[in-house]
Amino acid sequence: MAIDWSTLGFHYTETDYIVRSACHNGVWEEPYATKDKYLHLHVSATVLQYGQEAFEGLKAFRGVDGKIRIFRWQANAERMRRSAEGLYMCPVPDELFGKAIRLALEKNIDYLPPYETGATLYFRPLLIGTTPRLGVGPGKDFEFVVIPSPIGPYYPGKFHCTTFIVNRHVDRAAPFGTGQFKVGGNYAASFRATEAAHAMGMDCIFLDAAKHKYIDECSAANFIGIKVGTKGQSTKYKEIEYLTPRSSAILPSITNDSLMTLAKEKGYKVTRRHIPLEELSEMHEAAACGTACVISPIDKVFDPDKGKTYFISEQPGPVLSGLYHALQDIQYGRAEDKHHWCEIIDR
Ligand SMILES: Cc1ncc(COP(=O)(O)O)c(C=O)c1O
Repeated sequence: MAIDWSTLGFHYTETDYIVRSACHNGVWEEPYATKDKYLHLHVSATVLQYGQEAFEGLKAFRGVDGKIRIFRWQANAERMRRSAEGLYMCPVPDELFGKAIRLALEKNIDYLPPYETGATLYFRPLLIGTTPRLGVGPGKDFEFVVIPSPIGPYYPGKFHCTTFIVNRHVDRAAPFGTGQFKVGGNYAASFRATEAAHAMGMDCIFLDAAKHKYIDECSAANFIGIKVGTKGQSTKYKEIEYLTPRSSAILPSITNDSLMTLAKEKGYKVTRRHIPLEELSEMHEAAACGTACVISPIDKVFDPDKGKTYFISEQPGPVLSGLYHALQDIQYGRAEDKHHWCEIIDR
């Protein structure tokens, strides 16, 4: 196996092993590594009939010191437990989740990109219902799989901005529905909007499904807005405010949670509340955030229904650039990991 790290894109590259564990009658088997990437699944499995499925996404980094860091896997394990409960599936115990990630790393260690590449080893944990049934209802058998893939840096060139478009005609998830869980159905439901946005060279902003008034999510990422002092006025001591939506329909992002912690440490005011779309006109910086990109700055947001464009900032601004580097420095071992976010594997 020889990977040309310089050409590694942001797509799935198959590795040698995946890790699997099945659950019957509430009992999980010991996770094991296998080269077989195919599941022998009954055609009536609840994952196929009723979408009983949840997944996760997390990364391992080769640090500047040569050590491997798995970033906040415990938070992903906890979120997958909540997703499982949300879809009436048997939750994967945290210890088993951690064991499976470590095993997937160990068995595919040659696929962990070297530090200088800026690439990472991504893990996609997946939980599916395997009980055959046609009568509407949940299954009682499950399969947990961890699929690794090396992925190239999100910004192979310069850290840059993306333009977003608002879509009021496709809702991703309803309030108190499945939006707060990381389940496949939310993504399938969003494809019509995200693909239409991509066709125009943009990404998609979803508003709250009840009123189409507040910002919910940016494609498959949380929204962050930054306000500095009062726009148009220069104040001697500018307050920096980090704003992010409060909504029962969005996924609680682990990246957003980490960035909020770092923002508070930098002395910024962190506010989580409903954010009306029009408030974009008061923002000095804005971004989408998630495991894949960490931060993806937004230059402008186009609202086709109102024929309005919100211009935010042509280039990534200093506040979000600072937070982006602060989090990456922890992930790559260049800065102290005060919050013990990384599990270090010394090999
Ligand atoms: C819908 C959605 N929102 C937000 C996020 C960001 O979450 P995280 O930072 O945990 O990757 C993701 C990605 O996992 C996502 O799919």
